Amino acid sequence: MDLPSVAGSSLLWIFLSSTLIWVITRAIYRVVTNPLSSIPGPQISKWSGVVLIYEWLVGRRALYVDSLHKKYGPIVRVAPDEVHINDLSAAREIHKVGGRYLKSKWYENLVPPGIVNVFTVSDPAYHSALRRLLAGPMADNQLKVFEPLITDRVRLAIRRIGEELEYRGAADIYKWWLFLATDVIGELSFGDSFRMLETGKKNQYILDLEVVSSFQPIRTTFPTLIRLARYVPLPIFRSVFESGRRMGMYAHQSVERYKKLLQAEPNYPKTLFTRFYNAGKEGLSDTEIRNGAAGYIVAGSDTTAVTLTYLNWALCRHPEIQEKLVAELQSLPEDFTDKHLRELRYLNNVIMEALRLYSAAPSALPRVVPPEGATFAGYYLPPGTTVCTQAYSFHRDPAIFPDPERFNPSRWDNPTKEMNYAFMPFGAGSRICLGIHLAWMELRLAVAHFYRAFPAARISTKEGMSDEDMKPKISFLMAPAGHRCLIEA
Ligand code: HEM
Repeated sequence: MDLPSVAGSSLLWIFLSSTLIWVITRAIYRVVTNPLSSIPGPQISKWSGVVLIYEWLVGRRALYVDSLHKKYGPIVRVAPDEVHINDLSAAREIHKVGGRYLKSKWYENLVPPGIVNVFTVSDPAYHSALRRLLAGPMADNQLKVFEPLITDRVRLAIRRIGEELEYRGAADIYKWWLFLATDVIGELSFGDSFRMLETGKKNQYILDLEVVSSFQPIRTTFPTLIRLARYVPLPIFRSVFESGRRMGMYAHQSVERYKKLLQAEPNYPKTLFTRFYNAGKEGLSDTEIRNGAAGYIVAGSDTTAVTLTYLNWALCRHPEIQEKLVAELQSLPEDFTDKHLRELRYLNNVIMEALRLYSAAPSALPRVVPPEGATFAGYYLPPGTTVCTQAYSFHRDPAIFPDPERFNPSRWDNPTKEMNYAFMPFGAGSRICLGIHLAWMELRLAVAHFYRAFPAARISTKEGMSDEDMKPKISFLMAPAGHRCLIEA
């Protein structure tokens, strides 16, 4: 080897090793001087969020974070720039109405690119303008106009469950509750139901919705990859892209069809968006109506269906609770309405307990620390830190809910102040669920009609159905791992 090439390779070696030392030293310096470095948590969280990402992708993030709270306390660092808090006063500050902790950009990646709606938007001025408009038709007293439609759909769901029990010997209630919730929100948003209860089958829109939902963990973890999906020649990416595109197209067509019907017949049945059509500057644009309606379908279908399914399952495992509920429901008149159901204490306690233990959105609700920074549980969080709370942990705090894993509706007879504060199945504050009253109405009607029709419902072991099917898989929403819940009656 000649002298210049030896000198050249030595220089290269010196350059590479000093670059490596510089990179490592810089990384260590950043980790050590990061203001979050004193926050308790696993060592790996100081360097990387890789464990958190892994748990998120496999549907166990909420459980992983809960185990960290048990080990490290009310505040834990889960990634270099992300902490979780399980402290009531912190949660009240983070989620308060008019608060400064905005939704992080993470929400925009939960849905297909380009969809901005009341759920995803982080700009507070735009959010409150949208929310002010949308809240009217969703108010408890305004929803009464939709009660006959919802009751009608619930009765149809009960009939279809009965038919499936006849010919199959068991009914998949997860499927039927999903069809119910999707048909209801479809009709209330687009003026036309998806007719899934009638056909007993999922249509293309719902299949697309499932693709979009099941890709939420990938979408939020690899947003750029998903944005480039249309150019990636792999079938899976193409199908994600196509699903998102078809959903947008369907929402557009549905809104246009409803507008035409409304022009031809001004008394055509109302939707949650009717008052905004042609409302001019003060109302919503067509795009906002379309994105809003599509958002309602995502937010209002799985959530309600999963709550109902786990409620049924919990009662199957506690026949004494089921009997008490059935006895209370027997006191109802034949033509009972939602007004009667609001007064049934045990029914409402059972629903509260199902929402506590089986919250459909139990995982992190990420928010961004405002420019002035924050101090929670004695630790300073710099501006821009992602701070998360999760219902999964609040709802299992033994200091607030004694014997937390026990399904015990009677705990809601006289709830403490802390129980009410810690109860967050619908989120809290300015971003609390917009569909909360609709969800409650659907839950009351569905549970009451179901247990009047099937007072002896019990879990089935047909077709290999077992508790394994009901193990929760949690990404942003929760679902039973087996995607089914077979019952007999
Ligand atoms: C049992 C059923 C339901 C549960 C457990 C549930 C849960 C939640 C939760 C936890 C949030 C807050 C998310 C966050 O802060 O990041 C939320 C927001 C929202 N939910 Fe629900 N939801 C349910 C039913 C519904 C229904 C039926 C609709 C119908 C349209 C709906 C529409 C929305 C909307 C639009 C938001 C965003 C509100 C905002 O950011 O201002 N939800 N929901």
